[in-house]
Amino acid sequence: MSPLIIALDFAQPERALALAKQLGRKRCRVKIGKELFTRSGTALVEKLVKQGFDVFLDLKYHDIPNTVARACLAAADLGVWMINVHALGGRNMLLAAREVLEKRRERPLLVAVTVLTSFNSLDLYAVGLHGQLEENVLRLVRLSYNCGLDGVVCSPHEIVRIRQTVGPDFKIVTPGIRPVGSLQDDQKRVMTPVEALKLGADYLVIGRPITAVSEPLQALLEIEASIEEVAT
Ligand code: C5P
Repeated sequence: MSPLIIALDFAQPERALALAKQLGRKRCRVKIGKELFTRSGTALVEKLVKQGFDVFLDLKYHDIPNTVARACLAAADLGVWMINVHALGGRNMLLAAREVLEKRRERPLLVAVTVLTSFNSLDLYAVGLHGQLEENVLRLVRLSYNCGLDGVVCSPHEIVRIRQTVGPDFKIVTPGIRPVGSLQDDQKRVMTPVEALKLGADYLVIGRPITAVSEPLQALLEIEASIEEVAT
């Protein structure tokens, strides 16, 4: 199965469904984020799951442990493939999320967001997290790993240090991916699909290089061809 996760960042569920259909469930997984979910709710998630798509429900839960655990259970009931939480929710929240999912026979992968890639060191300092950005990321990676999560979402530039910290089985999911020649948009530090996979990423989240071009399937096929040597 492909390492590509396409971010369905649309306001209308019809557009998300149409793109998913055009790309096909054998070619990619799909990600539903806060905007699309808030507009279209669980109906869209259930539709895509029913059509056989692996759905990453990207709602980044961060709340008291009981609330997050119950939200994770609700997401698992939708049949999604992957969900995420903020590692900054702390040990008890991470453990509660993992424990509630462990009781199920089939469960989604549970990954943590460490430090948002929109943060720089000054932003971190302003919320009381002192030290280098990378130190903070690695501390939250270790916390997520020790709490039994399945992986983390991170910038492609953090892959190497994270891999050294956690070993081969912990999943690394990375946005900020741009194929050669595509627009950088608002992503500050990007990497190509081949580079990110070579460094050790398991899954690549790709949005606008597929969703905002006139020939999305063609764009996906080109990325597929480019990663053939590393993804097999
Ligand atoms: O269009 P683009 O490829 O930049 O989309 C990347 C996707 O990954 C978006 O859905 C964005 O919200 C998400 N994401 C990100 N950076 C993070 C976490 C998630 O770009 N740190």
